[in-house]
Amino acid sequence: MTDEAKTWFITGATSGIGRELTTAALRRGDNVAALARKADGLDDLARRFGTTLLTVPADVRDEAAVQTAVQRTVETFGRIDVVANNAGYGLFGAVEEAGDAQARAVFDTNVFGVLNVLRATLPVLRAQRSGHILQGSSVYGQSAHPGVGLLSATKYAVEGLSDALAAEVAPLGIRVTIVQPRFTATGFLSNLDVATAKPDYDGTVRAVQQAIGELTATDFADAGDIAAALLGVVDADAAPLRLALGTASAESMRTALQARLRDLDETAAVTAAV
Ligand SMILES: NC(=O)c1ccc[n+]([C@@H]2O[C@H](COP(=O)([O-])OP(=O)(O)OC[C@H]3O[C@@H](n4cnc5c(N)ncnc54)[C@H](OP(=O)(O)O)[C@@H]3O)[C@@H](O)[C@H]2O)c1
Repeated sequence: MTDEAKTWFITGATSGIGRELTTAALRRGDNVAALARKADGLDDLARRFGTTLLTVPADVRDEAAVQTAVQRTVETFGRIDVVANNAGYGLFGAVEEAGDAQARAVFDTNVFGVLNVLRATLPVLRAQRSGHILQGSSVYGQSAHPGVGLLSATKYAVEGLSDALAAEVAPLGIRVTIVQPRFTATGFLSNLDVATAKPDYDGTVRAVQQAIGELTATDFADAGDIAAALLGVVDADAAPLRLALGTASAESMRTALQARLRDLDETAAVTAAV
């Protein structure tokens, strides 16, 4: 890869992983178009890094705002090298507990927001015949347990569309990496939407909720370490399609994948009879 400064397009840039990624990219001299619902949350970075940071107010659910953000990025920096589809939030509760509005809302941001960003940025990447898309997934992109059904559903959706996307855009010189961090110390847990509890789920969903509440600092990755890993991935010659960040994430997904393979093996006779 070239040593030239890259131009990043990062959603959810005001906090957590997005903010660390924005800061790390700027610190090494890259350009960043940082999308944020409250753009003044990046004022300190604007003062520190000047014209290499373009702050754009945008809610990822607003397709027109995302398209305007892309236009401004290209007007300012001339290109986009890395798209980080990072904005997202979680919904906690049993599948049955999550109301229709809550379920649709989390898909609106975590899935339809991602699609808005893809539709807006891909014409630029296709014209360049280059670019790297980082798709924000999670340990919950391949595994799930009680309480995270709707969150997992959004991340599984992102992973499914990304598998197809990667094959569609590879011949056009564009790379896709699905990013699967473990629990990370950000505002994610305090920003969770929580469904109204039904007592029948006390032994499953509420037990998990309690266990999550009892996690200690060592159970969480540092968002700066996630950002550093992502910088390494976009600089490498070969891009992985999937990137587990944290052994806990890798092990949860390994267990889930092995269970799926076991199901395939154990039902092979039924499968073959059809
Ligand atoms: N933290 C973890 O344990 C963990 C683990 C695996 C994966 N992830 C994923 O990492 C990504 C970043 O999360 P985080 O941990 O950094 O949490 P965070 O600190 O809560 O950051 C989430 C960011 O997304 C933005 N956002 C949410 N909805 C948005 C919308 N509709 N339009 C634009 N921006 C929106 C938030 O903006 P506002 O400030 O305006 O709300 C915020 O900047 C998420 O996709 C999450 O699923 C997190």
